Amino acid sequence: MHIRVLGSAAGGGFPQWNCNCRNCRGYREGRINADARTQSSITLSADGEHWLLCNASPDIRAQLAGFAPLQPARKLRDTGINAVLLMDAQIDHTSGLLMLREGCPLEVYCTDPVYDDLCSGFPIFPMLTKWNGGLQRHPVAIDGSGFSIPALPGVEITALPLTSQPPPYSPRRGHPVSGDNIGIFVRDRHSGGSLFYAPGLGAIEPHLLPWMERADCLLVDGTLWTDDEMITNEVGTQTGLSMGHLPQSGPGGMIELLGRWPHKRRVLIHINNTNPILDNDSPQRAELARLGIDVAHDGLEIEL
Ligand code: MLT
Ligand code: MN
Ligand code: ZN
Repeated sequence: MHIRVLGSAAGGGFPQWNCNCRNCRGYREGRINADARTQSSITLSADGEHWLLCNASPDIRAQLAGFAPLQPARKLRDTGINAVLLMDAQIDHTSGLLMLREGCPLEVYCTDPVYDDLCSGFPIFPMLTKWNGGLQRHPVAIDGSGFSIPALPGVEITALPLTSQPPPYSPRRGHPVSGDNIGIFVRDRHSGGSLFYAPGLGAIEPHLLPWMERADCLLVDGTLWTDDEMITNEVGTQTGLSMGHLPQSGPGGMIELLGRWPHKRRVLIHINNTNPILDNDSPQRAELARLGIDVAHDGLEIEL
């Protein structure tokens, strides 16, 4: 199974267009050693030709331009994207569907609550029906039953519900239900390799641990180093936990969790622009390096 990180930043990207935080300003002024990152998305393939897009980022056009296998190759109008699987209905994971409208009909896999938000608060499913059949929705179950996508033969996906929040625009914000946010366990039956992917992991839930234990690679929420990072940087009022993102540092944080599997490939993704790990020379980044935890960058490829 081929995995390509298209976008490794959280909502807003890095640098964020309107942000003057230490990282964003430092990057623009060339004062920190860091790499720009687009917003959250990965793509998976069994054969290197047919791809499943996991999340549709607002930066999808730049991401497609940077990855030839997704570009037209076989006929006049064409794409390597055969289906889209949504982890949630957040703007940074879904608004790229608008940019993909010329490629409709498009097969979109999502849970019932995500579909509900994308028919109400951000109604892209009804909107896009005018574009050649629009988005063809495939329900994703959260009962532990695996499913597969025709374009990825031999790849089995299991959706794992994560305790989180529906998006800020959702009429149900503040009233989360199971399925608002998922992680996925993906296994390639041919290679035997497996991935646990959860860009929005807000709590260490016991039902996730056996899946993390099974996976060869953990690609997980790297949004914030500290829970109050948005507040101390004076760029927001919310904590990470209240937004459904487990901070990396401190007791009960992501680093402690990942410490259970010191020999697994562990990669942080969906990194917010305030996070000190974006600075390649920061002590926080050095700590990750010492622990053997990687930080995803755009273009990172993983073979499992
Ligand atoms: C999140 O991951 O919490 C969201 O992407 C935040 C946002 O879009 O504002
Ligand atoms: Mn996000
Ligand atoms: Zn910033």
